[in-house]
Amino acid sequence: MRRDPNNHARELPLNRREMPIDPLSALFEPLRQHRASPFVIAQLGQSLDGRIATPTGKSRDINGCSGMDHLHRLRALADVVVVGVGTIIADDPQLTTRRVPGRSPARAVIDRTGRSSRGSKWLRADGCDRIVFSENMQGWPDEVERIGTDHDPDIFEPARLIAALAARGHRIILIEGGSSTISRFIDARLVNRIHICLAPIILGSGRPGLNLKPIDELDEALRPRAQSYLLDDGNILYDCDLHT
Ligand SMILES: NC(=O)c1ccc[n+]([C@@H]2O[C@H](COP(=O)([O-])OP(=O)(O)OC[C@H]3O[C@@H](n4cnc5c(N)ncnc54)[C@H](OP(=O)(O)O)[C@@H]3O)[C@@H](O)[C@H]2O)c1
Repeated sequence: MRRDPNNHARELPLNRREMPIDPLSALFEPLRQHRASPFVIAQLGQSLDGRIATPTGKSRDINGCSGMDHLHRLRALADVVVVGVGTIIADDPQLTTRRVPGRSPARAVIDRTGRSSRGSKWLRADGCDRIVFSENMQGWPDEVERIGTDHDPDIFEPARLIAALAARGHRIILIEGGSSTISRFIDARLVNRIHICLAPIILGSGRPGLNLKPIDELDEALRPRAQSYLLDDGNILYDCDLHT
């Protein structure tokens, strides 16, 4: 990974042996140094035309190996990874850290009506905590914690979801997708940072990366302070600070 030469950031810092410091350390420093508690980070891997999946929900290879490695690094740094039920149904992800060294985070899925399969991979018992936000009591494995409106009538408000995770000791919260779930947390102004990995691929149709509340004027748009990094496979990773 290297910095984008078109980026007007300062030159790579040098350490005492005059070797460039790995730019990855700059990218992940906010996660290590965060003062906000909890710290919420979202990620999207998308095409040049801003799509995160085809119309049939296929998203896995948009960003190639470097994008997948990056996602697994984020999982390794997070205390808990959160996805919406749409992603569970489309991808059946394991939500574990496998491509890089590091521990796997706890896993939380938002499935209000309980429409996903009870055989989904994220439910596998592997020692990681598993939480489902759902009103449906039926069929979840015993050791999966179910949180519903019987705990908190407003539990599906994004701020209440974050508070419930923070109350369980999760300080770094990764919202992994999909677009509807991430958009709800951004609209609620709860996301500290978003990593958007832009791949040199044009889908031309499919699911948009974000679907936020409509705006009329450009000055209402989010203009996060951003840093960009060149990854392998021609990906450009934007690290956007949404709280400045
Ligand atoms: N490229 C990438 O980086 C990436 C990452 C992840 C996923 N994806 C792709 O994204 C697609 C899925 O995205 P999606 O937007 O359709 O679905 P999604 O965001 O995965 O799930 C959305 C659903 O989750 C539930 N949900 C989320 N937040 C909620 C809240 N605060 N309160 C209540 N329910 C909430 C709702 O379910 P109900 O409708 O049942 O209430 C909502 O319809 C898939 O094709 C997947 O492959 C791409």
